[in-house]
Parts: sequence; structure tokens; C-alpha cells
Amino acid sequence: MKFIVGSGEQLRDKLETFPKKYKDAFSSSQILVICVTSDNKVVGGCSIAKISNYALAYLKEEYRGRGLGTKLEAKTYSEARRRGLDFVAGAIHLWNLPALHVASKVGYREVVQFRDFGYVLMMIPLNVKGKLVYTFLHELCSRLPGSFLHRIVLLLMSVVGLVRQRTSVS
Ligand SMILES: CC(C)(COP(=O)(O)OP(=O)(O)OC[C@H]1O[C@@H](n2cnc3c(N)ncnc32)[C@H](O)[C@@H]1OP(=O)(O)O)[C@@H](O)C(=O)NCCC(=O)NCCS
Repeated sequence: MKFIVGSGEQLRDKLETFPKKYKDAFSSSQILVICVTSDNKVVGGCSIAKISNYALAYLKEEYRGRGLGTKLEAKTYSEARRRGLDFVAGAIHLWNLPALHVASKVGYREVVQFRDFGYVLMMIPLNVKGKLVYTFLHELCSRLPGSFLHRIVLLLMSVVGLVRQRTSVS
């Protein structure tokens, strides 16, 4: 298995067999790492979005549960650190135990858990500035009501989504 590192734009033509949700997010990302088998099958990817630094990982089902997801995410975040990103962020459903387990292994820290809405927001600070952002958000979130924060998250996601669409059109 080898990893290929690039951007969504550079690796877009390798994403044909991925579910639409991942194909769309991966192809517009600033950093994309894909796993390729020795017979050139692309079996997974991990991306970091532009602007939000939001991370997303996906492995084809038959390749899960063998440590590949952990290696893929670790490789992606070390590339993010190398390129000078301050942090990466992620949102994981509380029922998604494999994803939560991988997150804890690769260094994610919880920002806030929305138990009523079934997901947790997480971050990996990659440098001193990232640590400050993490501490600020973690403190802020511990002082505000969950339903209000959840609305803010949804609003930010839709704004980032709109900006991303505009960026990719131009
Ligand atoms: C998330 C994902 C990338 C992880 O890839 P993976 O190759 O299966 O991950 P790994 O094998 O490296 O690690 C999975 C860990 O979860 C553990 N795990 C699996 N099922 C579990 C369960 N039901 N409860 C608790 N732990 C579980 C495994 O034991 C393993 O830990 P270990 O290495 O310490 O034994 C993969 O499951 C996937 O593509 N899922 C679908 C897309 C998705 O949900 N993405 C997450 C949103 S970012």
C-alpha cells in the first residue's frame, strides 16, 4: 500500500469510485492523501478542507479494521503540520466508534460534545497558535449552552460551504 499526497484538484481523477459525499469533499480540499494498492486501486483518502481545515477520512469497507485508517490520517496531519497549518478540525458522530478510536490515536482533542445532537467537535492543534485557538474554543464552549453552539456550528458550516462553492467556481 502506498500513500499519494496532493490537493483535491491534483488527485480529482483518482476519486471516481468513491461515494459522492467523499468525492465532493475530497476534490475541493487543500490537502488530500490517498491510499493506493500495489495493483493501483485507490481504496481510501483523507482530506483537509480549504478555509475551515475540516478533516474527513474514508476507506473502502474491505480495507477497514487493519490499522490503515490510523496510518492514513496520521500521514495527512503530518503533511498539514509540514505545510504550516495551525490546526485541523473534525466532527464525529458519537456512534462512530472506529472513527472516534482513530481520532484519539492520532491526537484529536475534544472541543465540545453535543450529546443531544449525537456528535463531537474535535481539533488537533499543530503549533502554538493552534493550541491557543483550541484553548480559546474549548473554554468558550464550556461556558455557552449546547443548543446555541450547535446552531453556530451549522451556520459556520453553511458559510464555509458557500465560500468554498464560490472559490471553486471562480
Ligand atoms: C474511520 C475509518 C477511516 C477508520 O479506518 P480503519 O482502517 O478501520 O481504522 P483502524 O483500523 O486504523 O482503527 C480502527 C480502530 O477502531 C477500533 N474499533 C473498530 N470497531 C470498534 C468498535 N465497534 N468499538 C470500539 N472500537 C472499535 C479498532 O479496534 C481499531 O483500534 P485498534 O487499532 O486500537 O485496535 C473507517 O472506518 C471509515 O472509512 N469509515 C467510514 C467513513 C467514516 O466514518 N469516516 C469518519 C468521519 S471523518
